[in-house]
Amino acid sequence: MNTKLSVNINKVATIRNARGGSLPDVLKFAKDCYRYGAHGITIHPRPDQRHITFKDVEDLADEFPKSDCEYNIEGYPSDAFLKMAIDAKPSQITLVPDPPHVLTSDSGWNTITHFDFLKDVIQKIQSHQIRVSLFIDTHLDFIENAKKLNADRIEFYTGYYAEMFPNDPEKAIFEYKKAATFANEIGIGINAGHDLSLENLHYFKSQIPNLLEVSIGHALISDCLYFGLENTISMYLRKLEG
Ligand code: PXP
Repeated sequence: MNTKLSVNINKVATIRNARGGSLPDVLKFAKDCYRYGAHGITIHPRPDQRHITFKDVEDLADEFPKSDCEYNIEGYPSDAFLKMAIDAKPSQITLVPDPPHVLTSDSGWNTITHFDFLKDVIQKIQSHQIRVSLFIDTHLDFIENAKKLNADRIEFYTGYYAEMFPNDPEKAIFEYKKAATFANEIGIGINAGHDLSLENLHYFKSQIPNLLEVSIGHALISDCLYFGLENTISMYLRKLEG
C-alpha cells in the first residue's frame, strides 16, 4: 500500500506574513513540493488568515485541480469556509472541529453529538464530487459514526501518538492500530496527521494497515531549514516506503 505524502504549507505562509510581502512564494513552494515528489498539498485557511490567506486558496485553486497533485483543504465547516473550499475544487476537504482562534487542531470530531450537523455538511461537499475526511480520535464509536455519516475517510489526530512515541512506541501506537483495524473492517479510508516527523513516521506507517495519506507540516517545514526542500521530501518519502 502506497501512502501519499501531503505537505501542509501553512508554515510557509506564516513566514511570508511576518513581513507582509511575497517572500517566500507560497504557490511556488507548493509547486516545488509536487515537483520533488510529494503527492499532495494541504492548507488550513483560518478565519483570521494568520497563515494561509483567502487569496492563497484562490491562487492554489488555479494551479492544483489541473494536476494529479492531491489538493486537501482543512478547516472548520463554517458557511464561509465551505463556500471558499468548495469553490477551490480540491480533491479532498478535511473537516476539523477547531474553534476559530485555536493555535492548532488538537482533537477530533465527536461524530455522535455533531452527527446532524456533519451529515448536512458532508452531503453538501460530496454533491460537488469532493472527497470528505473527518479529523478524528481513535474512539471506535466516533469512527463507526463517521462511516454512518458516509465520510469517505477519517484522519487520525496523531498528536497523542507523537507525544508518547519517544518513551514507548508500542504503547503510543496501540489505540491507533485497534482503530485502524476497525476502520478497515467497516470500509472507511484512513489518513493521519499532526506532529508526524522523520523520527516517528516510519513506525506509524509500518503499524497502520492501509494508511492512505499523511499530512505533515510543522516538522517537515522545520526540517527544510536544515536539509532543503528537495532532500526533506525525499527523506519523508523514504520513511513511507515498505
Ligand atoms: N492535520 C490537521 C487537521 C491539522 O490541523 C494539521 C495542522 O495544521 C496537520 C494535520 C499537520 O500537523 P503538523 O503541522 O503538526 O504536521
